[in-house]
Amino acid sequence: MTTAETTDALGRILAPAAGVRLHRADDDSAWWRHAVIYQIYPRSWADSDGDGVGDLPGITVRLPYLRDLGVDAIWLSPFYTSPQADAGYDVADYRDIDPIFGKLADVDALIEAAHGLCLRVIVDLVPNHSSDEHAWFQSALSTGPGSLERERYVFRDGLGDDGAQPPNNWESVFGGPAWTRVADGQWYLHLFDPKQPDFNWENPEVRAEFESILRYWLDRGVDGFRVDVAHGLIKAEGLPDWDEPLHMLGDADGVDHDHGGKHPPMWDQDGVHEVYREWRRVLNSYNPVDTPGHDPAHDRVLCAEAWVDSPERAARYVRADEMHQAFNFDFLQAPWRASDLLESIEDSLAAGDAVGAPTTWVLSNHDVVRHASRLGLPVGERRPNGIGIGDPQPDAALGLQRARAATTLMLALPGSAYLYQGEELGLPDSTDMPDEARQDPTWERSGHEERGRDGCRVPMPWEGDAPSYGFGPSDRTWLPQPEIYGSLAVDRQRGVAGSTLELYRALLAARRDLRLGSGSLSRIDGYGDDVVALVNAADGRASVQVLVNLGVGAVPVPEGWEVLIASGPATADGQLPTDTAVWLRPAE
Ligand code: GLC
Repeated sequence: MTTAETTDALGRILAPAAGVRLHRADDDSAWWRHAVIYQIYPRSWADSDGDGVGDLPGITVRLPYLRDLGVDAIWLSPFYTSPQADAGYDVADYRDIDPIFGKLADVDALIEAAHGLCLRVIVDLVPNHSSDEHAWFQSALSTGPGSLERERYVFRDGLGDDGAQPPNNWESVFGGPAWTRVADGQWYLHLFDPKQPDFNWENPEVRAEFESILRYWLDRGVDGFRVDVAHGLIKAEGLPDWDEPLHMLGDADGVDHDHGGKHPPMWDQDGVHEVYREWRRVLNSYNPVDTPGHDPAHDRVLCAEAWVDSPERAARYVRADEMHQAFNFDFLQAPWRASDLLESIEDSLAAGDAVGAPTTWVLSNHDVVRHASRLGLPVGERRPNGIGIGDPQPDAALGLQRARAATTLMLALPGSAYLYQGEELGLPDSTDMPDEARQDPTWERSGHEERGRDGCRVPMPWEGDAPSYGFGPSDRTWLPQPEIYGSLAVDRQRGVAGSTLELYRALLAARRDLRLGSGSLSRIDGYGDDVVALVNAADGRASVQVLVNLGVGAVPVPEGWEVLIASGPATADGQLPTDTAVWLRPAE
């Protein structure tokens, strides 16, 4: 690290005391290094036919909303043929569309419409497991032990004289054992639901099949893939027992788990990286690098969903010959304390820089309590996997205030960022959904201990006064919408000064204009321990200070700077209130 610039391009003083530089400006020609990508959860974004489940034609019609919001790309959670045992993350046919979402022609139309609006399209790829209704698994069942078909999955004989004990003691992420016994007595592995058998990635046939699936979607024009459970494909040899909890998705708590120095045998094995090197070669073949005609604007990309222990482990997925992006779950899980946020930002940027990769910020997705609710829970406590009736409830107003500040911080940082549908409206989780309405397999599989992820998956409100708040033409929604969603609907916020929607639009527009996604970042010292103070100031560009006040008292805005955007009511007396963030620029 070196000392940061102390003046901006015009020679004006940057800050009370410019501290160390955390990251140097990047070349911004590669779109994925700084893109803001909006996650659409197809079941819950827009329903065109009134059956209560969102669909592809619904998405296509609503795409102009995203152009106006100011994002660069969309990521679609799975829309493939699926019995929907895990909301589509149980794929029965990787090359076709589930009828609840539409037809293949609807994806083509969606991709074309998105590209026409300058929005890139990233689709979800689920390589760790298929559905048990996938043709391969069905033939593995019918051909029996020892068959080549069984080699595509992880079948084993059981333990004990009669083989009635599972092959090892692994638990599934959703609760209960990770093994299910089939009629002929063998067991198959499923790290998730029994309807999600794990593939055997040691088998070259599985690898060849997924390369073919990648090409299938690249040929249809997609710009990249978000890779589901990217850290799970390869398991440790011999499938050794593991006595610790699984720590993935909703049971993480923001604490580093060193498992007494042991490494979980089902996660983050070295062998996964060879798979991604192969995939990178496939993607690069669509836009050959190191050739005179290479235009990074046409790069196709891979983004890892890898819940690993540290930014350093995550950075292994984005080495130059592997993926392009990996979600920064360390940042997502950082407690709402200045020191924790700063440490996460510094460590993530350092880890990414060490391998030449951007950092991929994210605060919410379809697997975690939305940040507008999460940040309204007591700081430093375990992050719950869903909130329901009878659970401690978040402080909604505080959560929203902090969520707006958190996003204001995130969008000032260099790197790429993912937004989850509805966060631009400040949507909270549904925290009082009747348990009978729950659909996440976690609720049943955990013996009703974990509520699961339905609370963040509730259909979007578009119009405050319409049935289903404008989600579709009928009043049907596959999960009930909380009443508060009506007052947070898009039409209640569009054009309303101070609304969360207008805050996001302003942040995204300024981020783009000022090229913050490819800027350099320095820490600013002198504000005290409860303030995150950073400056994004690449050579020759306007500098932007971002201040977040996490302390109890107000913090004075520095002389010579004016507020460009504030996450909450900006005070006239030049003070930054608690749980508020601002972007500042040098005063004219
Ligand atoms: C990923 C998905 C999650 C799904 C799981 C199993 O973590 O994001 O929704 O349940 O993988 O596919």
